Amino acid sequence: MTTNKPFGTLTPISEEAACCGDDCCGDGESTEITHAQLDSITAAVQHEYGALADRAGERASQTNKATDRLYTEEQREVLTDEAAGASAGCGNPVGIADAKTGETVLDLGSGGGIDCFLAAKEVGPTGSVIGIDMTPRMLELASTNAEKLETTNVVFKLGHIEQIPQEDDSVDLVISNCVIALSEQKERVFSEIFRILKPGGRFVISDIVTDKPLPDDVRKSAAEWVSCVGGAAVMSDYLAMVEETGFDKIEILEDRKSTGGTEEWRSSMINLTLRAFKPAE
Ligand SMILES: C[S@@+](CC[C@H](N)C(=O)[O-])C[C@H]1O[C@@H](n2cnc3c(N)ncnc32)[C@H](O)[C@@H]1O
Repeated sequence: MTTNKPFGTLTPISEEAACCGDDCCGDGESTEITHAQLDSITAAVQHEYGALADRAGERASQTNKATDRLYTEEQREVLTDEAAGASAGCGNPVGIADAKTGETVLDLGSGGGIDCFLAAKEVGPTGSVIGIDMTPRMLELASTNAEKLETTNVVFKLGHIEQIPQEDDSVDLVISNCVIALSEQKERVFSEIFRILKPGGRFVISDIVTDKPLPDDVRKSAAEWVSCVGGAAVMSDYLAMVEETGFDKIEILEDRKSTGGTEEWRSSMINLTLRAFKPAE
C-alpha cells in the first residue's frame, strides 16, 4: 500500500539521543560536532535535499547522473524520470542485496524512492518496502513517484534514521544508499538497524567512508556534510561500529576509491557497500 500526504510531524531527536554527552558537546575547542552545529547540519541537509527533490524532473534529462553510473539498464526501466532524477546514491544496494519474494525491506534515507521501487519489484506483491526519510519534500516526491508507478507494496514514512519509526524484529533486509555518512550518530543508527531487523536478517548499505581522518575544516563544513563527505567515518571505525553493535558475517561487497576533486584529502574517500547479519536466535 502507498501512503499519501500528510506525513505527520517529525519528532525532534531528544538532546540525550542527539549526543553522546558532555564528552562530545559544548566544548568550543573540541573536534566533535556541537548541538548547534548538529542542528545546522540537519537543517542544511533538509534544505539541500528538499531543493534536490524540486530539481528531480530537470535532473532526469541530464547525462552522467548517478542513476546512469550506478544502476543497470534493466533497473532504470522500472523508474519514473523523477525517481531517477532525484537519485543521490553512491552504490546500488538493491542490485546486490538479493531481496527475496515476500520479504520486508526498509530503506534508510529513501530520497525520491529509487531503491524502494527497485526493491519492491524484487519482493513482489507479497512483500513490502518501507522508505524512511526526514525531508518532507523528498517524501512528497517519493509518494508522487509511487503513484505514477502504481506501486502497491511501498510505504514512505517521515522519520530519522537515528530513531526509526518501525517495530523491533520486523524487517528482513535493511538497505541504505549514501545516507549514514550524513549522520553524526552512526552508532545509534546501527543499533536502530539491529533493533528492527528480524533475527537472521541482514543489511546491505552503500555509504561514503574514508581511509584516514578528514581535516577539521572539512568535517565542520555544512556544505561538505550535505554532500556526504564531511560526516564520512574512517572505514576501520565504521566496521568496528558495525561489529560492536552485534552484527556478524560482516562482508565488504564493494570498496571503490572516489574520483574527482583536487584537494589531497579527497583521495581518501571510498564508496563502500557492506553486508552484515543480525545473528539468528
Ligand atoms: C544523499 S541522499 C540519498 C537518497 C537515496 N538513498 C538515493 O540513493 O537517492 C540522502 C537522503 O537521506 C535523507 N536523510 C539524511 N539524513 C537523514 C536522517 N538523519 N534521517 C532520515 N533521513 C535522512 C535526506 O533527506 C535525503 O533524502
